[in-house]
Amino acid sequence: MTGLEALGRDLFVVEGPIVRDMGMPFTTRMTVVRLGDGSLWIASPVPVPFAVLADIVALGRVRYLVSPTPRHFWRLNGWHDLFPEAELWSSPITPFTLKKGDLPLTGVLGDQVPDQWAGDLGHVLVRGSRWLNEVFFFHAASRTLLVEDLVQVHEPRQGHPLRNALVTLGGVASPMGGVARDIRLTFRDRRAARESIDRVLQWDFDQIVLAHGPVITHDARGVVEGAFAWLQKAEGHPHEKTQGRRG
Ligand SMILES: [Fe+2]
Repeated sequence: MTGLEALGRDLFVVEGPIVRDMGMPFTTRMTVVRLGDGSLWIASPVPVPFAVLADIVALGRVRYLVSPTPRHFWRLNGWHDLFPEAELWSSPITPFTLKKGDLPLTGVLGDQVPDQWAGDLGHVLVRGSRWLNEVFFFHAASRTLLVEDLVQVHEPRQGHPLRNALVTLGGVASPMGGVARDIRLTFRDRRAARESIDRVLQWDFDQIVLAHGPVITHDARGVVEGAFAWLQKAEGHPHEKTQGRRG
């Protein structure tokens, strides 16, 4: 675990502990954005030591706690206890949402960026999957794309050959990473997904903060294009052929 790291203008990250999800260990990273009004917007918060918490509080008032992906919803709990006055926001709730009790949500993210942070962050709800409706965020001041579960890059771990083989088979191995094969299978409407990613690619970003992988500063756009190249196959998908073409 590291401390609070500045990645650009008003953008900070903290590495969290290793967590297990679906039997696999994941590195974790939370993102802190200082908004124009000086308050803090935090995505996918992780447990942090007191010293790091003090550094975060020194940056500004913690005002928004956000789970951009169904698998990170449970992480809001700990930070809601710490900052009960902060607004809680989530990506759409799906059967895949990992909950730990009920939380007083302020809102569920849809197509509209909430006024509260629209001056600092754009977002796209990536459509096409009934299970993993992740919201990608764009922080214009630091030209950074924020990605949680949809794109992952896992380094090989020494002494874990089975895990490394699964990571490779899953399509998320370093250096390129990608969208995990099991996640791809949940995308039944590839055209909708493609449209979402095309909107993401309209943003002017040159850096990606991955929750599960490195911070990407080289060929960031190429990483997104490569990770979603499988969506180009939409034309040949039998499920979609029956739905006809949209203009
Ligand atoms: Fe995750």
